[in-house]
Amino acid sequence: MLEIKNLVKKYGTFTAVDNLNLELEKGGIYGFVGPNGAGKTTTMRVVATLLEATSGTVLVDGINVAEQPVKVRGKIGYMPDFFGVYDNLKVEEYMDFYGSCYGLPKPERSKRTDELLELVDLRDKRTSYVDTLSRGMKQRLCLARSLIHNPELLILDEPASGMDPRARIEMKGILKTLKEMNKTILISSHILHELAELCTSIGIIEGGKLVYSGELQDIMRKITGKTILEITVLDHVDRAVNLLREQPLVEDISGDGSTLKVSYSGDERDMAELLALLIRGEIPVIAFTREEGSLEEVFMEVTKGFEE
Ligand SMILES: Nc1ncnc2c1ncn2[C@@H]1O[C@H](COP(=O)(O)OP(=O)(O)O)[C@@H](O)[C@H]1O
Ligand SMILES: [Mg+2]
Repeated sequence: MLEIKNLVKKYGTFTAVDNLNLELEKGGIYGFVGPNGAGKTTTMRVVATLLEATSGTVLVDGINVAEQPVKVRGKIGYMPDFFGVYDNLKVEEYMDFYGSCYGLPKPERSKRTDELLELVDLRDKRTSYVDTLSRGMKQRLCLARSLIHNPELLILDEPASGMDPRARIEMKGILKTLKEMNKTILISSHILHELAELCTSIGIIEGGKLVYSGELQDIMRKITGKTILEITVLDHVDRAVNLLREQPLVEDISGDGSTLKVSYSGDERDMAELLALLIRGEIPVIAFTREEGSLEEVFMEVTKGFEE
């Protein structure tokens, strides 16, 4: 659905995006993670046909963004990282305006506006003035607007930035719905946990370079060479620890109470065998998972070579 090949974007002599390659299958959700100034917005604006690449190729559903930008625009929805000022414009007028920009006939614009305001939970704000909405509401409205022409590919630039925790959770819920609707999504953030949960793959960008790209767990294993397993047992903790200690792929065990954190260098098949072994040893295992949320650590790890 999206293919970025050797993308370079320079502002004058400054290279903001440096030979970036990325591929995203239909229905995939790619999390673009990186600190401010890394080049996320620049990359997204090139994909959204708003910025011309210095060199390289971007294809959306096989169509070159530089050659057929209008055609590409019909296929993508872009949510920018800022929300403009709209004096004296009501929510429904705002949606209607963007619908007409995409040449949708009036009845379809109304129908889409209904559906989308429902999706982002702004139905009762229909006749409110846009400028009176809270930040979280504005961001949801901006997302709704980017969906008005029912695009296949969504480019969401930090959709949850600056939101309070509650607004974030709401945004997350909407993104999950979009995922279920089988949209292909490129989403940027420095809110790492949220991306981890949502994304099929993750790219870490730093100084214009994609320093890592792939499935999150793969990235973590590549960097740390191991997985952290969280194993919770009902009782017999000591016996579980002893049994685990005997396994060659187990490197370290820590933990409090009945939940053990096991540093493990095996792959998924090894993990399945480890679980089977615990069960055979009559250890009452009630949970066996890979640790979530070590993404920040991974991020620090992969980007530390770039800090001067
Ligand atoms: N219009 C511009 N002119 C000059 N430099 C820019 C411009 N836009 C962005 N940059 C620079 O390019 C780099 C990447 O910016 P950006 O793509 O906005 O990163 P991110 O979205 O990851 O924060 C930054 O160093 C930024 O200062
Ligand atoms: Mg940005």
